[in-house]
Amino acid sequence: MRGILLAGGAGTRLKPLTLVASKQLLPVYNKPMIYYPLSLLMLAGIRETLIITTPEEQPRFRALLGDGSRWGLSLDYATQDQPRGIAEALLIGGDFARGEPLCLVLGDNILYGHDLTRLLRGAAGNRGATVFCHPVRDPQRYGVVELDGAGRPVSLVEKPKEPKSNLAVIGLYMLDGAAAAHAAAIRPSARGELEITDVLQRYLAAGELGVVELGRGFAWFDAGTPDSLLETAEFVRTVEHRQGLPIACLEEIAWRMGFIDRAQLQRLADELGGIEYGRYLPALLAQAR
Ligand code: TTP
Repeated sequence: MRGILLAGGAGTRLKPLTLVASKQLLPVYNKPMIYYPLSLLMLAGIRETLIITTPEEQPRFRALLGDGSRWGLSLDYATQDQPRGIAEALLIGGDFARGEPLCLVLGDNILYGHDLTRLLRGAAGNRGATVFCHPVRDPQRYGVVELDGAGRPVSLVEKPKEPKSNLAVIGLYMLDGAAAAHAAAIRPSARGELEITDVLQRYLAAGELGVVELGRGFAWFDAGTPDSLLETAEFVRTVEHRQGLPIACLEEIAWRMGFIDRAQLQRLADELGGIEYGRYLPALLAQAR
């Protein structure tokens, strides 16, 4: 399975922070925002990822992440010149995905919870599309899914005025090889965007949409407003301080997933062990003996 990480967009709600910097490069506590969605792809076992950014920002993402080899990844880059919608990522990434299953993740989505790795890996082999949903207080802001008694999706509506449930679809989508064809078949919505919800509707109509409900033990943030950016940072800081375990430390995940060997972990620990972000790595290395 390949990954597409969508990190373009206008970041309107975060202006002026986003006037000269991409939202996904802003700090969430001790690391750039994009580390968090990239860590989700890695936890799903994905090593080949296409990162889609605005043309102006691409050099900065390249400078930050490079070709990904330090984490045992293979990162490619593409651009989206206008924020024409999340589903456009499936068209931009069409050649990259080559009709194979893919995981699309949004660059401002942060997800944390017990057993996440198993859930992500479990969904990776599913047929059709699999989405994850989570209860929120303000479902009007999101794609909202309604489930029947057996947990099967009945309806899916983008930003409903009268939501049928409090379950928001989070920004991580597992899609089969038909995703690009579905994206090519939809038209822009009233707000002028190719909506991922319209792609998912097509899977739903074909009886090929699976929904995994993430319970209250999960925390999900989209760090797209000043408040949510700060709240997310506070959450990460609180958990990291309490547990002494990092969230979205790419070096740790690369090691645990078997993407890098011990010698590479040693190099990364030597490089980063002296700074706040990497101070956990020498301890990890000691365990890894
Ligand atoms: P949004 O938060 O919907 O949009 P945005 O980031 O442009 O912010 P704002 O609404 O404040 O203007 O986007 C969710 C994620 O998807 C975010 O990481 C940006 C990305 N995105 C794109 O890369 N291209 C797009 O066309 C859209 C709509 C979003």
